[in-house]
Amino acid sequence: MSKPRRPYTLSIANQKGGVGKTTLTVSLAESLARSGYEVLVIDYDGQANLTSWVYGQKLADDDVNILDVLTRNEWTLLNSADRAEEFGFDFIGSTDSLFDLEAKLSGDPYRVFAFRRAVDNMKEELHQTDENASEQHYDFCLVDCPPALGLAVTQALNASDGVLVPTILEKMAIEGLKKLTDQVKQAQENGRSDIELVGVVPTIVQVVRNQTESIAEVLRNQFGEDFLEDCQIPIRTKISEASAVSSPLREYARANGSDEHKYFDELAEVVVERTIGLTSRKLQHS
Ligand SMILES: Nc1ncnc2c1ncn2[C@@H]1O[C@H](COP(=O)(O)OP(=O)(O)OP(=O)(O)O)[C@@H](O)[C@H]1O
Ligand SMILES: [Mg+2]
Repeated sequence: MSKPRRPYTLSIANQKGGVGKTTLTVSLAESLARSGYEVLVIDYDGQANLTSWVYGQKLADDDVNILDVLTRNEWTLLNSADRAEEFGFDFIGSTDSLFDLEAKLSGDPYRVFAFRRAVDNMKEELHQTDENASEQHYDFCLVDCPPALGLAVTQALNASDGVLVPTILEKMAIEGLKKLTDQVKQAQENGRSDIELVGVVPTIVQVVRNQTESIAEVLRNQFGEDFLEDCQIPIRTKISEASAVSSPLREYARANGSDEHKYFDELAEVVVERTIGLTSRKLQHS
């Protein structure tokens, strides 16, 4: 497999809460890692649910976290990344201090680009180590966003090559998607002109009913081939249990004689095809 050295930065975003962003981020990252890709996962949410899943507990106040990378010069994405061995990826956690992001960066007129600076520095540093034939590199940098449209999400989108949008198939949930695609457009205007909509993924999908189908139809019309309905993640108790016991889904499912990780393996294949694997496409939807 040829491995691009430049990490593709992918935000997992939807301002609606509880639609499966964190679950998708962890399990997609795990599937990418098991396929041989080097992955850096960043918890960009003050709720720190992803951090609790990976470590089984919250970070201590003095543990290095993503806010340190944004606010303290000595910390970079590369030197603050920790190996989450069981999951197969590198990881930077967050704490509830991230809720103070606006206040912490209030003196920085370019705060909407604070994360982009960190990502650009990482790419630059990796490029240099690349030239020195170092083994260190990432293929993907996955960013788990909070359920909001505030500064953190603006920063994440301004730094991203692409965005993946998990959504539940409910009327209220899809009404909010327009706001998110508007924010992606804002990121394009902010100079991230090449940001792609990698896809809209139906998650926590119950047995298909008439109402679900009519919502899927709306998304099909709105997003066309970017509506990744073949990659939908069904509702499965094993998927939520894995996070509750802080286990990688693959290991938890296998230990329980099931194979729920296959949904994320399929999604990982499509994400690779639509990002580093195939010609780039630009966000074209309103
Ligand atoms: N496919 C699934 N099957 C069953 N439960 C799921 C599935 N995906 C997610 N869940 C559960 O749904 C809840 C919300 O999921 P998750 O935390 O991933 O959403 P989120 O969008 O990250 O939430 P927030 O907006 O608060 O960050 C969690 O309890 C999770 O375990
Ligand atoms: Mg979350």
